[in-house]
Amino acid sequence: MKKLALNLENVTKTFKKDDGYITAVDRVNLQVEEGEMVTFLGPSGCGKTTTLRMVAGFELPTSGAITIRGLDMTNTPVNKRKIGFVFQNYALFPHMSVYNNVAYGLKSRGEKDIRDKVKDALLLVGLKNTENRFPSQLSGGEQQRVALARVIVMEPNLLLMDEPLSNLDAKLRIHMRTEIRKLQKKLGITCLYVTHDQSEALSMADRIVVMNKGKVEQVGTAFEIYSNPQSLFVADFIGQANIMHLKVTSFTGENLEVNTHNGGVFGARCIVPDHIDPSVESYQVGKDAALVIRPESINVVPYKGGEESFNATVTSSIFVGSHVEYELTLPNGEMIKAFVPYTNTMQIFNEDQQVSFVIDPVNALFLPRKKK
Ligand SMILES: Nc1ncnc2c1ncn2[C@@H]1O[C@H](COP(=O)(O)OP(=O)(O)O)[C@@H](O)[C@H]1O
Ligand SMILES: [Mg+2]
Repeated sequence: MKKLALNLENVTKTFKKDDGYITAVDRVNLQVEEGEMVTFLGPSGCGKTTTLRMVAGFELPTSGAITIRGLDMTNTPVNKRKIGFVFQNYALFPHMSVYNNVAYGLKSRGEKDIRDKVKDALLLVGLKNTENRFPSQLSGGEQQRVALARVIVMEPNLLLMDEPLSNLDAKLRIHMRTEIRKLQKKLGITCLYVTHDQSEALSMADRIVVMNKGKVEQVGTAFEIYSNPQSLFVADFIGQANIMHLKVTSFTGENLEVNTHNGGVFGARCIVPDHIDPSVESYQVGKDAALVIRPESINVVPYKGGEESFNATVTSSIFVGSHVEYELTLPNGEMIKAFVPYTNTMQIFNEDQQVSFVIDPVNALFLPRKKK
């Protein structure tokens, strides 16, 4: 087994606010292996930055423990943690040259061979011959590379990045995310990376931590999180998902059947998320369940009618080349999306047409309607 770079145990942070307290981070547990890249993804205010700041030591947890490379660092000051931090605003020293910015930490640590180390670090981030320039003479992307060089030159145990690309334009952001990921792999450095950008989080990470309201909703690879969301929040937050609300008609432990809106029955696999006890939660007959289904897992077919099929009206039909994007309205008013791959023998349905749709049961996931 690989060595643990970081262990968060029930880490909690409560802030005092004018009219009471707010729990910004709520009992977060996470283990990160040496060399792993973990991204934190979640809506604004969900506690990503606070979590990172506690790992760095800028904030102390209200309760819980932080272990770095096997050592308890919960209350250790920032400068004793050997951690590198890259922020959204580059925080370079404006009056210092690129060289001096990168050399600063090494000098204050009294290191040798500073010139060579700075040169290597600048080369690694793709900045040759910039030593004598000043931050104001560099583009945003270049400044962020200097910030990165300044951190990796110190050979930290952990690299923490908080929305480091948010100030860059879209094209550069995509380019830089690939470069950061390559560099992180090359150096084998353990990295925690905060972002609110889904595609950034999914494309850069070994594992993703999805947060919501201070809590970890799910930890997993991009594939796991997309194909097996453990809660409605994750299903809805990652990628596009249709969430149909249906009633349970039978539940046998693994197989769940729900009513279709017109009285028929639809059965599919049922993966019960770990935190849910199916005997007490909403998998019982008569309870509400949510069917989570990705648009690409729905096929649109000619209208069948009757109880055994899902019927709907096409409210939008857009041909986008590789597939047709349908928006369908169900008899109960719910709207769902279906992405049907284009083939030259397919029938394309138009707006206002009555259709039926078929869900591949293998790709349907049921979740209780409300998480406790
Ligand atoms: N120093 C602070 N004092 C009071 N409240 C704070 C402080 N820092 C963060 N918070 C609150 O904690 C919550 C989480 O914030 P943050 O960790 O910055 O979220 P994110 O980075 O996911 O957007 C927010 O409600 C925020 O207002
Ligand atoms: Mg933040």
